[in-house]
Amino acid sequence: MTKSGNGNPKENAGYKAAEYVRDGMIVGLGTGSTVAFTMDRLAERIKGGLRITGVPTSIQTAMKARERGIPLASLDDVSQIDLTIDGADQIDPSLMLIKGRGAAQVRERCVADASKRLIIVADSSKLCDQLSGPVPVEVIPFALGHVTRKLEQMGGVVVVRDGVKKDGPVLSDNGNIILDYHSGPIKDPQALESEINNIPGVVGCGIMAEFSDIMTVIVGENDDCRILG
Ligand code: 5RP
Repeated sequence: MTKSGNGNPKENAGYKAAEYVRDGMIVGLGTGSTVAFTMDRLAERIKGGLRITGVPTSIQTAMKARERGIPLASLDDVSQIDLTIDGADQIDPSLMLIKGRGAAQVRERCVADASKRLIIVADSSKLCDQLSGPVPVEVIPFALGHVTRKLEQMGGVVVVRDGVKKDGPVLSDNGNIILDYHSGPIKDPQALESEINNIPGVVGCGIMAEFSDIMTVIVGENDDCRILG
């Protein structure tokens, strides 16, 4: 346990992660409310002289970073990322993840894959004994019906994620549709990740089983953080 303590678990985790950032680093910036706290802290440190370049995983994160004065580059502009800080929706004991409530899992996976180290920030409600979904799945519009049928044949329930105003599906930053695949308890996350990602028309799903070797998880509590991995 490390003491940071302000009663907000997401804020504690987000702030703690910012301590891992060193001068000169290229930093992958994940998407979501927990990483927003990390960006708050990084912005303060930048005012104090820290020099970093952020690589955002979504338009939303890019906007938040610009508001905070964090210099940005695109993934194309960098050959490697020193450290990425991102959120998660479910985390199992082997540090396998489900991501994508913010519909950014495809870009988040690209940025994680380019990173030497990945820090996941979350509150303890995200920890689970077994991943259970729903699993966000980004699908090209052309293949919506095809992918839906394939996922239903795998035994789960498919829900097209509605837009905020309920007037159409959520579109990812890549212009694709987001499905939520309700699989029930996931016995073998790696196998399900491959099975979903291998359906033609799927751009990427939110199961991330391959990053545990570069990952540290910072779990925010009311007054502390726990470090896993
Ligand atoms: C976005 C994500 C987010 O990182 C995840 O949904 C966690 O968000 P929050 O920190 O707001 O709980 O995967 O695609």
